[in-house]
Amino acid sequence: MPDTETFEPENIIVTGGCGFIGSNFVHHVVDNHPGVHVTVLDKLTYAGNPENIAGLPEDRVELVVGDVCDEGLLDELVPGHDAIVHFAAESHNDNSIADPEPFVRTNVVGTYRLLEACRRFDVRYHHVSTDEVYGDLALDDPARFTEETPYRPSSPYSSTKASSDMLVRAWHRTYGVRATISNCSNNYGPYQHVEKFIPRQVTNVLCGVRPKLYGDGRNVRDWIHTEDHSSAVWEILTRGRAGETYLVGADGERDNIDVLRAILSAMGRPEDDFDWVRDRPGHDRRYAIDPAKIRRELGWRPRHTDFAEGLAATIEWYRENEAWWRPAKEATEARYAAQGQ
Ligand code: NAD
Ligand code: TYD
Repeated sequence: MPDTETFEPENIIVTGGCGFIGSNFVHHVVDNHPGVHVTVLDKLTYAGNPENIAGLPEDRVELVVGDVCDEGLLDELVPGHDAIVHFAAESHNDNSIADPEPFVRTNVVGTYRLLEACRRFDVRYHHVSTDEVYGDLALDDPARFTEETPYRPSSPYSSTKASSDMLVRAWHRTYGVRATISNCSNNYGPYQHVEKFIPRQVTNVLCGVRPKLYGDGRNVRDWIHTEDHSSAVWEILTRGRAGETYLVGADGERDNIDVLRAILSAMGRPEDDFDWVRDRPGHDRRYAIDPAKIRRELGWRPRHTDFAEGLAATIEWYRENEAWWRPAKEATEARYAAQGQ
C-alpha cells in the first residue's frame, strides 16, 4: 500500500445527510470518529427524512435545511468547515426519465455551487458518484468498470452525475480545488427509499402486492451494503489523493430476477409470485466494478460479504419499520402506476 498523507477533518458538511446513503455516512462518522462534527445540509425533498439522523448527539450533528444550489447559504455555512462530502442528489433513474429538470438543477448546478464555495473558502471536497456514469456492459463481457473506463452515461440521471464528475475534475485541475471522486455500485440496506428496487419489492410483499420486474429480469447490478460504501467514502476523504477517482464495489454482481427470487423465498412466497412490467426506456444491461485501486491504495475492504445475510437483515428492518416507509409508499406506487410499472 503506498504512503498516503492523512487528512484529519474536524468540521465537515455532509450534503444529503438525510437521504439513504448520506444518513448512513453521518452515523458512520458519529460512531467511529469522535473528534468530528457534522453539519448536514439537506433540502428535505421527498427522499430526505430527518428521522434518518434523529437521536444523534446534538453536539456532534447539526441539521441545516437548505438547497445546495443556494449560493448565499453556502457563503454563510461553508467558512469554518474543513471539508464538504457531497451526497445530495436527485438519485432515481425512473424519476429522471419522467422529469429530468430537477436532476439538471440539483446534480449539475448544485455541484457547481459547492465547487465554487470550496474554491472561495479553500475547503476540501469529496464527490459521491455512481458507476452508472460508465454506461453499461454486455452480459457476456468479461470486463468490469475501472477508473480508466470512458464515460458513456445512458439516462438523464446518469448523465447529470457524469456532468457533475466532469465539473469536479475541471475544478481540481484548473483551480486546484482539493477534490476526490468515488463511483460506487448499487447500494442496499435499511433506510433506502421505497422507490428503489429492493425496498420496493420487500414493501410490496409486506403490503400483499406482487413485486414488479422490468424487462426480462436479466439486468445485472453489482450490490454493496451501504455501510461498506460509507467506510469507503471515509477512507477516500481522509487518505485518498486529491484529483483521484476511486471505484467502490464489493464483487456483488447479481441479476434482478435472482435478487427478486431471493426476496420472495426469504419472505416465504413462491419464487414466481411477481408481475413482469414494462421495461425502463434505455435500461442499462449490466454494471460491474473492479475495486482493485481502492483495495490496493487504501487497503479498504467491504465487511458485508454475505449478500443473503445482508438481504435478510434488510428485509427484517422493513418488516419492523413500517412507520418509516408507509408514508411514502402510496405516492411512490401511484407514480409507478402512471408509468405502467
Ligand atoms: P437519496 O435520494 O436517498 O437521498 C438524497 C438526499 O439529498 C435526500 O436527503 C434529499 O433531501 C437531498 N437533496 C436532494 N436535492 C437536494 C438539494 N438540492 N439540496 C440539498 N439536499 C438535497 O439518495 P441516495 O441513494 O442516498 O444517494 C446519495 C448519493 O449517492 C447520490 O449522489 C447518488 O448519486 C449516489 N449513489 C447512490 C447509489 C445508490 O445505489 N443509491 C449508488 C452510487 C452512488
Ligand atoms: P434501481 O433500484 O432503480 O437502481 P438503478 O436503476 O440505479 O440500478 O433498479 C435496480 C434494477 O432493478 C434496475 O435494473 C431496474 C430494476 N427494477 C425492477 O426490475 N423493478 C422495479 O420495480 C424497480 C424499481 C427496478
